[in-house]
Order: sequence, then structure tokens, then C-alpha cells
Amino acid sequence: VANRRSPVRRRTVDPARRAAFDALRTVHTDGAYANLVLPPLLTQRRITGRDAGFATELLAGTCRLEGTYDQILVAASGRQLGSLQPAVTDLLRLGCHQLLSMRVPTHAGVAATVDLAAATVGERVTGLVNAVLRKVAARSYEEWTDDLSAGLSPGDALALRTAHPRWVVDAYADLLPADEVERALDANNDSAPVSLVVRPGLATVDDLLDAGADPGRWSPYAASWSGNPAELAAVRDGLAGVQDEGSQLAAWGLTRAPAEPARGAAWWLDLCAGPGGKSALLAGLAGHDGARLLAAELAPHRARLVAQGLRAYPTPPAVVVADGTRPAWRAGVFTRVLADVPCTGLGALRRRSESRWRRSVADVEQLHPLQVRLLTAALGATGGGGVAAYVTCSPHRRETVDVVEEVLAGRDDVEVVPASSVLPELPENAFTEAYLQLWPHRHGTDAMFAAYLRRLT
Ligand SMILES: C[S@@+](CC[C@H](N)C(=O)[O-])C[C@H]1O[C@@H](n2cnc3c(N)ncnc32)[C@H](O)[C@@H]1O
Repeated sequence: VANRRSPVRRRTVDPARRAAFDALRTVHTDGAYANLVLPPLLTQRRITGRDAGFATELLAGTCRLEGTYDQILVAASGRQLGSLQPAVTDLLRLGCHQLLSMRVPTHAGVAATVDLAAATVGERVTGLVNAVLRKVAARSYEEWTDDLSAGLSPGDALALRTAHPRWVVDAYADLLPADEVERALDANNDSAPVSLVVRPGLATVDDLLDAGADPGRWSPYAASWSGNPAELAAVRDGLAGVQDEGSQLAAWGLTRAPAEPARGAAWWLDLCAGPGGKSALLAGLAGHDGARLLAAELAPHRARLVAQGLRAYPTPPAVVVADGTRPAWRAGVFTRVLADVPCTGLGALRRRSESRWRRSVADVEQLHPLQVRLLTAALGATGGGGVAAYVTCSPHRRETVDVVEEVLAGRDDVEVVPASSVLPELPENAFTEAYLQLWPHRHGTDAMFAAYLRRLT
């Protein structure tokens, strides 16, 4: 029977877009992390160079801006997204990102998404995908968000424009001067640079610079890298790793606060060590100081990652699977203790592109008691004259200052060591009260928080 419809254009599927689509489906169906799902897909399918860069930006950007794209899609399609097949919604989200944020020309972005729809869901949805994306492309991101903001409160409009849930906007507004809030939220929508860290004693920053890396901005152990870190021999051999400079500074600060060693050999403790970035830095710095590190982690698979990160040290620190709130060690024996506690990760949203839509304010409240218990345990492990660091990669007050104040209330055996005295190289705006508080829009790091606390007795 002759096909009476107009002849179907020959379809080709772009492998980079296909990889981004498959990864996005896994993010949504399995609750996977975008930055972990895509790289193996790219390797498997031999997608490299510019195509790999395109797929990475397409997936990360789509995940970050998803909440706003969904509102645009509802307006453009005239239907609730729940009435669409989930795979079609994901195709439309990827189309939105190309058309509104990646400067892909309209005809290319629409045609490539329609072809992808035909190859993945089926020919029957191509008309819908084509029609909705043409409507989306008729306006810019700013025009859409301006239109959709009509009648919204300033907070809701900011949430829509910067693509954050409202509770995150409110938390930022609570922490920053009014004229910085939008810039801070926008900074979560930029891709974070790859920051490298050397394992002190095993490699130097000069080794990384000689291999083509650029100097870091703040940390004496950092360098920055624009390609795939696995291309560097030092990273493959465990002499260097990937770590945000904010994390490096928080850990370095702990090693710089004056501390009296407990009797005998000095021991340091990393109470919540997995996956091991800070342990790997601390182990080298402990070595310089004649101290030894013990790394503890609750989750066995994460403890294995810690050990893997420490493998290049000639005498690797001991790694134990342990619940930090039920110490497997004697009280008061450590000179330096790091409590880098589980948190919402609100300070690393630019790296964890999907996480802002998964977290809720309930998570903050749920984590708070565990954070209090872990800091209390860290202080219990610290000897008189020793120092503990309480660290989060969230700036949320309930996870930072509130935890420290709650733990210190009524205690006269602990003093706060001003973070500015420990990290004097940093500008004044890196500190809030006596604590370290970094920000992507100010310092180019994740929004790390650190409090340094000395046990007096
Ligand atoms: C923010 S991460 C630590 C990151 C790590 N310091 C690094 O730099 O790679 C928090 C870790 O604490 C672990 N954790 C959660 N509850 C714990 C507990 N009760 N005792 C010890 N570790 C715990 C989590 O499994 C997670 O690996």
C-alpha cells in the first residue's frame, strides 16, 4: 500500500544526543547521578572530544534547569507533563536545553530531537515533539521566564529564573546580602572547573604544571585541568586526585590550627572519610607532621574507595568501617579530627546537577541530629589541646552554624579557633562569624563550611 503521507525524512541519530538521552533516562528511572552515569556510556560508545563535551553539557544543563524547563513545556504544550510518556518528557527537556541555553540553531535542535524521538520512542511521537519544540524555540529563556513570572512573588520568580526550588532560594536569601543572592544561584548553573590536588609527599603542583595543568587559585596543593583527569599519569597512579579547592582549604585549615599532640605518637582521625578525598590530602600532611591518620567510614563500599585513594602512600593509613557516632577508638587520643559530615550538598549543586530537584527542606531537618551526634563524637575523640574541624559542603545554617552552636552550648571545654587565623591568605568574605564559608560566585569553589574547634581539656 502506498504511503500517502509526505515522505519521511531520512533520520540520523546523533550519538552524543543519544548518550545524553540514555543517561537522563537512567537518572530519572534509577535515581542515578548524572555525573556518574554518562562517562562510562561515552567510553563504551567511543564518544570523545567535542562530542563528549556536548553530551556532558547537554545532560548536566538539562538536569540543572529541569524544573524551569518543565514549566516552559507545560506552557508550550498546553498539557501537564504527567500526561506524556516519561521518555517523551525527557526528549523535550533535552530539546529545551539545546534551544534555550546551548545556542544550537532552531532547525538543528528540533530536527535532531525529532530524529532521536523516532529512534527511541517511535515515529508516532515525532509530530508532538516537533510542534512543542517549535513553540519553545519561538522565545528565549529570558522571555519565557519573564512571561511565566507574571503574578509570581519575587521569591518564586527568582526560583523560576535561576531554576532552583523555592526552599533553596530562601536558604540563600537567609545567608547572603540581597544583591548577591541571584548571582550565587546563577553560579550553580555554571559547570565547575576540574580541580586537581596532589598527595603531599608523593607529587608536587609543579609536576602537574609540567604535565600541562594550570595553577590553582587558593590551595597550595591545587592545579586546574580542562580535560579528562584520567589523561594524567599522576592521577592514574594515585599521586594526585580530583578535589574542589574548597575541600582542600577546609582540610588544610585543620592541619594549620595550632594543636598539642596527645601523649605519645600523634594520631589524626577522619571520622566520615568516604569516598576519601580529604583523607588522601590529610594522609600526606600528617606524614609531614610525623603523625598517622586513621580513616573511618560507615559504608563498606565507600571505605574501599578511601583505601583505593590512599594506595600510593608507602605506608597507607588504616581504613576502618565504623559508625562515627559509636566510636571504635579510645576517647581523647587524637590530635586532629575531621568530621566532614553527611549533608544536603547544597554547596556543590553545580557539580551534582540533578540534586537540587531531589532534596527537600525535610532532608535538612533529618540530617541535623546526625550532624550534631557526629560533631559531638569528633570532640570526644579529640585530646586536650587538640583540634576538631566540622565541615559540610552545604552553607545551610541548620547544617552549619546551628549544629556548632547546639554542640557547644553549655560546654566550657571547647573554644572556637577563628577560621581567619587558620587560613589568613583568604579574603575577608570567605568567613562568616568565626567560620570558613566559601561560595562559588565569590571564590570559584564549592560552598564549603568549616568550623575549627579546640579542646581545652
Ligand atoms: C560528606 S561525605 C565525606 C566526604 C569525604 N570526607 C571526602 O572528602 O571524600 C560523608 C560520609 O560520611 C559517611 N557517614 C554517614 N554516617 C556516618 C557515620 N555514622 N559514621 C561514619 N561515617 C558516616 C557517609 O557514608 C559519607 O561517605
